[in-house]
Amino acid sequence: MSTTHWQMARRAARLNPSTIREILKLSERPGIISLAGGLPSADTFPVQAMREATERVLREQPREALQYAASEGYGPLREWVAAELCGMGLAVEAAQVLITTGSQQGLDLVGKVLIDPGSAVAVESPTYLGALQAFAPFEPEFVAVEGDAEGPDPAALASARGARFMYLLPNFQNPSGRCLSAARRDALAAAAQSIGLPVVEDNPYGDLWFDAPPPPPLAARLGDGAIYLGSFSKVLAPGLRLGYVVPPKQLFPKMLQAKQAADLHTPGFNQRVVYEVIKNGFLREHVPTIRARYRAQRDAMRAALQAHLPAGCRFNAPEGGMFFWVELPSSLDATALLPKAVERGVAYVPGAPFFTSGSHAHTLRLSFVTVPPAKIEEGVRALAAVIEEALQK
Ligand SMILES: Cc1ncc(COP(=O)(O)O)c(C=O)c1O
Repeated sequence: MSTTHWQMARRAARLNPSTIREILKLSERPGIISLAGGLPSADTFPVQAMREATERVLREQPREALQYAASEGYGPLREWVAAELCGMGLAVEAAQVLITTGSQQGLDLVGKVLIDPGSAVAVESPTYLGALQAFAPFEPEFVAVEGDAEGPDPAALASARGARFMYLLPNFQNPSGRCLSAARRDALAAAAQSIGLPVVEDNPYGDLWFDAPPPPPLAARLGDGAIYLGSFSKVLAPGLRLGYVVPPKQLFPKMLQAKQAADLHTPGFNQRVVYEVIKNGFLREHVPTIRARYRAQRDAMRAALQAHLPAGCRFNAPEGGMFFWVELPSSLDATALLPKAVERGVAYVPGAPFFTSGSHAHTLRLSFVTVPPAKIEEGVRALAAVIEEALQK
């Protein structure tokens, strides 16, 4: 009897377990204060509105909602997205909006359509780990564009000349929390245009501002030079798996074919339910409640970090989104410290996986949105004690 020999594709070697998911498993132990998650707060999910909308869809359009549907997405939802984006200064037609199964799928489709083995793909340093994972199977060469606390350095964009695109997260970045100023956006857009570098702009957190809305997207300045991605995960619920990608018109047919091949279409039922929820301005009432909640948690974490972090540590307080970024003294390694932190009852995400080089071992990301303020204080205190102990060794 012969033994079957499964030979995996070369790209399978580029699929790696998400360090973050592994850590999340650790942090799920009872009693751990998890500042590790990238999850929105479940207390913000609009359960009642979803229930009512679900009933309405099943009552009024059950067969359409349960049938196969168009790969582009549900027409009224595409119209809604286009109108929203026009309000942010983008020139978008509904025909350019491709509804995706989470914006994570949008990143995968971008990779499929734009990356060949060996293509240069420019990314921020640090950048969203999930984007690195989505692009990696297409075998790009990542080019990390250097930057400062304000974001990527426009002058450093020259190092990305010839790249297929630069992936950018202008608003409340995952992981660093930073938001690009209008001036930095202008300079980056001008630098990208001057070298013909396309931009892939990912914006799942833009609506979660605490003090003032962020400046308009880079895509508003770049027109056909940008692909824009958005998501309903952080303003409604991630379990819906609903996002969108807006490619320039010349890329739309290929993006659509990639989408068709991937999953035919995003669940039409979810699209119709979400459209029912949001069509009459629900988000204008709902999103401010998320902002207020997250702002209070941000304030609690800022106060706790100020009070407890040992000298030599630095952090930035975000003006929106879900994350603080902490730099420990450079002698410390956040991955090595994590088991000790978990022993003391707190979990976080080490920063190194967010860098293409795996460097910056002394950095870490803290999420503040799923933990009540009193627990944030307790968690930060435990973290500070672990750092203090390591510094004394
Ligand atoms: C920067 C960024 N992009 C995309 C995603 C994926 O979001 P979703 O697929 O839920 O829309 C996330 C999720 O955390 C994210 O942080």
